[in-house]
Amino acid sequence: MTTLTPEQIHEEVKARYGRLASDFKVELTAANQGGCCGDTVSDGYCGTEFYDVDVSDLPADVTGMSLGCGDPITIAELQPGQTVLDLGSGGGIDCFLAAQRVGPTGHVIGVDMTEAMLEKANRNKEKINADNVEFRYGHIENLPVASDSVDVILSNCVINLSPDKTAVFQEAFRVLRPGGKLAVSDMVTQGSFTPEERADMSRWAGCITGAEDVADYTAWMQAAGFSQISIRDKANPAVELADVPRGDGAARIFSARITAVKL
Ligand SMILES: C[S@@+](CC[C@H](N)C(=O)[O-])C[C@H]1O[C@@H](n2cnc3c(N)ncnc32)[C@H](O)[C@@H]1O
Repeated sequence: MTTLTPEQIHEEVKARYGRLASDFKVELTAANQGGCCGDTVSDGYCGTEFYDVDVSDLPADVTGMSLGCGDPITIAELQPGQTVLDLGSGGGIDCFLAAQRVGPTGHVIGVDMTEAMLEKANRNKEKINADNVEFRYGHIENLPVASDSVDVILSNCVINLSPDKTAVFQEAFRVLRPGGKLAVSDMVTQGSFTPEERADMSRWAGCITGAEDVADYTAWMQAAGFSQISIRDKANPAVELADVPRGDGAARIFSARITAVKL
């Protein structure tokens, strides 16, 4: 087993998503080419069919590049005029859905570390004239965004890919305005992957083995300063998992709806 550095994990993840963006063809869709959907464990969560909101007015260049594992737009409850930040914006689908909701008086920022993905997102932006959206190069562990400047943070199947979740939540808390909201879809677990499982970079980059137990996820959010933390299984949203103790067996992985606020 080899233990990779955070920089090596970023490079592995970048390579996968850079390849997906560069090789993208509308007739295949990125999901079918193996993004977060390329592993049988997460099959069934990825792509646009799991959005509760209507995505049918977006072009196939946008919907085909959808690599998320849920629908952060529904849980975000966006309002006109808000400033929204999408962590790991990919081809831009959640930015464009957010832009429709915040309207011309609102503003949407997508941050991604993969150049080819940013190029794809910018071509999509031109195609649909999304004037209230901008894409910035950066890492979600060190956001290129001013403190106390954002009303709502979205993210769709990205935080699991980070080698430093503590930094991600600290940065999210820093850039939110007081009263701001976090609305995240992500793969999480009950129980944990072994170090050997985590060393499989293909499965890490496929949104599997970087996923963490809900108790750890909750603890990182609390430590960053977040309140009103909620983590629910997308397939069984009636049950609150944020207060559930750490699982002690093999990891059960699932797509979660995660919300929290900065008071
Ligand atoms: C699974 S895709 C999801 C893309 C998009 N959220 C969606 O729903 O289609 C993950 C995206 O996050 C980006 N990403 C992964 N780790 C990142 C990090 N540490 N900082 C910035 N971007 C990151 C990747 O480049 C990729 O575009």
